[in-house]
Amino acid sequence: MQNVTLNNGVQMPILGFGVYQIPDVETQAAVEAALAAGYRHLDTAASYGNEEAVGAAIKASGIARADLFVTTKLWIQHAPAGSVEEDTRRSFGESLRRLGLDYIDLYLIHQPLGDYYSEWRAMQKLNQDGLARAIGVSNFHPDRLVDLIDHNEVAPAVNQIETHPFHQRAADQALMVERGVQIESWGPFAEGKNGLFTNPILSAIGGAHGKSVAQVVLRWLTQRGVVVIPKSVRPDRMAQNLDVFDFTLSDGEMARIATLDTGVSQFFDHRDPAMVSWLGGRRYS
Ligand SMILES: NC(=O)c1ccc[n+]([C@@H]2O[C@H](COP(=O)([O-])OP(=O)(O)OC[C@H]3O[C@@H](n4cnc5c(N)ncnc54)[C@H](OP(=O)(O)O)[C@@H]3O)[C@@H](O)[C@H]2O)c1
Repeated sequence: MQNVTLNNGVQMPILGFGVYQIPDVETQAAVEAALAAGYRHLDTAASYGNEEAVGAAIKASGIARADLFVTTKLWIQHAPAGSVEEDTRRSFGESLRRLGLDYIDLYLIHQPLGDYYSEWRAMQKLNQDGLARAIGVSNFHPDRLVDLIDHNEVAPAVNQIETHPFHQRAADQALMVERGVQIESWGPFAEGKNGLFTNPILSAIGGAHGKSVAQVVLRWLTQRGVVVIPKSVRPDRMAQNLDVFDFTLSDGEMARIATLDTGVSQFFDHRDPAMVSWLGGRRYS
């Protein structure tokens, strides 16, 4: 598996396995199957409600901890002013306990909402204490990312954002490269929206290489240096999604895929006030 090197020297596998929307009762089996297929990088979050099942699968696999790269995410904290740092540390401890681990490889602020400056100060401490090998953010637009970097000691190692053929984030990626932040895609297949799996351009490119649309998308992202964490509950697709390093897309093929960009989300806008309020009202420990 190829790695990327984060801004603090930590090595991160460029391809991992995401577990969003896998029901808790199905997650252990799915993660066990993913680990058996060869995935060594797992992406979960406190808000997914399945950290315990991820932890159970890790334990059952018998794979050495050092051979795994585990990401989890901090949900928006709602502690009264002044105690968000403390609450962040508490929430981190709960994630560790649910996962059955004694450190996390990458700990992310899940949303750019609430008092995330206090959360970031607590995360810098978790990083200094060796409890989180790398720390980063998710869903940060460039303005928020730059502001966080400019007013703190540690720059995020990663920004995990919606990135797929219909929302390609080239300008966001250029800024992250300039600032030493690794881009990570969530929703690499846009969860199948907008007919992604039957898109004519992606299908034709796949046909030319004997690869599926999913494989073309993952190859296109990793060839751009984007970390990917596709989700599937089907072992055949888990294997397929790992098998993307034995072909290369030409400049012409990359250019054809570039024409699919719409420049907007297939899901929602993190700057929409109604969404900000809705997300801010969600409570996860
Ligand atoms: N930070 C954030 O705010 C955020 C938000 C969303 C997601 N994420 C992370 O990103 C990960 C990936 O995103 P996602 O789960 O939203 O969506 P996704 O990976 O874009 O798409 C998953 C969908 O694609 C299907 N699929 C997977 N492989 C396939 C293949 N080879 N051929 C055809 N269909 C295939 C899956 O169905 P089956 O399962 O039935 O195969 C599922 O319906 C998440 O699991 C999570 O870890 C983070």
